[in-house]
Amino acid sequence: MMSTDGTFGAKTSSRRDRSEQTNLETSHMSTLDDSTVLTQSRSKRYGLFVCLMAALAGLLFGLDIGVISGALPFIAKHFVLNDRSQEWIVSSMMVGAAIGALGAGWLSYRLGRRYALAIAAVLFIVGSLWSGFAVNPAHLIAARLVLGLAVGMASFTAPLYLSEVAPRQVRGAMISTYQLMITVGILAAFLSNIGLSYIADWRWMLGVIAIPAAFFLMGVLALPDSPRWLLQRNRGDEARAVLQRLYGNPADVQAELEQVNEDNTRPQRGWSLLRSNLNFRRSVMLGIVLQVFQQLTGINVVMYYAPRIFELAGFATHEQQLWATVIVGLVNVVATFGAIAFVDRWGRKPILYAGCAVMAFGMCSLGILLHAGVAGLVAQSLAVAALLLFIAGFAMSAGPLVWILCSEIQPQQGRDFGIAVSTLVNWVANMVVAATFLSLLSTVGEANTFVLYAILNVIFGIVVFFYVPETRGVSLEKLGNDLMAGKRLRDLGKAS
Ligand code: BGC
Repeated sequence: MMSTDGTFGAKTSSRRDRSEQTNLETSHMSTLDDSTVLTQSRSKRYGLFVCLMAALAGLLFGLDIGVISGALPFIAKHFVLNDRSQEWIVSSMMVGAAIGALGAGWLSYRLGRRYALAIAAVLFIVGSLWSGFAVNPAHLIAARLVLGLAVGMASFTAPLYLSEVAPRQVRGAMISTYQLMITVGILAAFLSNIGLSYIADWRWMLGVIAIPAAFFLMGVLALPDSPRWLLQRNRGDEARAVLQRLYGNPADVQAELEQVNEDNTRPQRGWSLLRSNLNFRRSVMLGIVLQVFQQLTGINVVMYYAPRIFELAGFATHEQQLWATVIVGLVNVVATFGAIAFVDRWGRKPILYAGCAVMAFGMCSLGILLHAGVAGLVAQSLAVAALLLFIAGFAMSAGPLVWILCSEIQPQQGRDFGIAVSTLVNWVANMVVAATFLSLLSTVGEANTFVLYAILNVIFGIVVFFYVPETRGVSLEKLGNDLMAGKRLRDLGKAS
């Protein structure tokens, strides 16, 4: 073994010399170990900071989704609005989000992920303050459009950024944190809806979102640029420095850099790649299908209309309905921790199967209960249990996993475009599901509507079986290379 000064021990050294030398080596090694441990724990803390800051985007997304259902009745009363204007106030955000998701693809490629997030943060601040101070319905619609742009940009950029900075062993958990923040945002909004039902001040409720948005802006400015984006810009030294802070271990940094570098020689393309490359069309299609099925689970029917569903289930007062809705929000948060804990251990597909089964069971039970007519405490409790089961199933699976998979399956040369398209589809499908729920209730009936969602969840499980790859622990580069080499979608990442 080498001594600490780099020379081998002399033949003449006495037993005492040797034992001193051994002590020295041991202490040197333990110093090394200590410093490695220190660096690694520092980089873990830094990783956590990066993850939380980027995931704050999810919090704002959730707040903006959740707050409007509680505020709308008061806004309608204040401005004396008809149904049409109310629908516009709700849906203008989704229109903005669809546009924002597309624009973010271009922005985050040109300016970098960090600046795209910073622009989203500024739009969040402007949109929140504007909606709080809106002087007429037109202003409110415009303000919600701005908020939508912010939500769309953030929902594109945050998972993309997280997938690019995360070490692959914890990539699933890091992107799930984004979904966790969405659920926390929705829960906070549900709670504020209760507060609102007492103080009846909608302006305050909409405007106050500017405060977390300001924190988000500060946090984003402190984030490092994505190492993959830096490499695309030929800023290798900066990329190495960022990876060093995130990974702690130089050997891991080197391994990552070699892999990413090889991949980054290809320029990013969008439409032209889509037109010319069948393999890319497959991953874009898979992203679209995943986001459509995430919405077809019926999640936002519950998010937007939970009080109405509880009314169907026999909860008479508005207050009871709002509190039951808060429980939905709480279960949504708690179950997301399940995904964070297991996504990188069990893998994506087993969790999705389990989630689809639980969601289908929850929706079907609710349908059957409504068919039988929910009367009495037992039936009411069963209806709540069915709904909560559905939410838990979504939160531990389709919620985070669809965002994770969509940010993993696109090849580097078309990643921004591919993720932008799937994010756009998330918002369009969200809008369609929200807009058709009430008509479904009145045309096919309450019970059948929920049974229909149950069937869609079963189909989702089948789609996962046939088309979704298992991406756990596989580098983004391997997934992309397999795709472009023409491997079947469900086989991407498998050792060939
Ligand atoms: C979905 C949203 C949904 C939210 C609920 C997200 O993953 O994309 O549409 O409202 O989860 O937690």
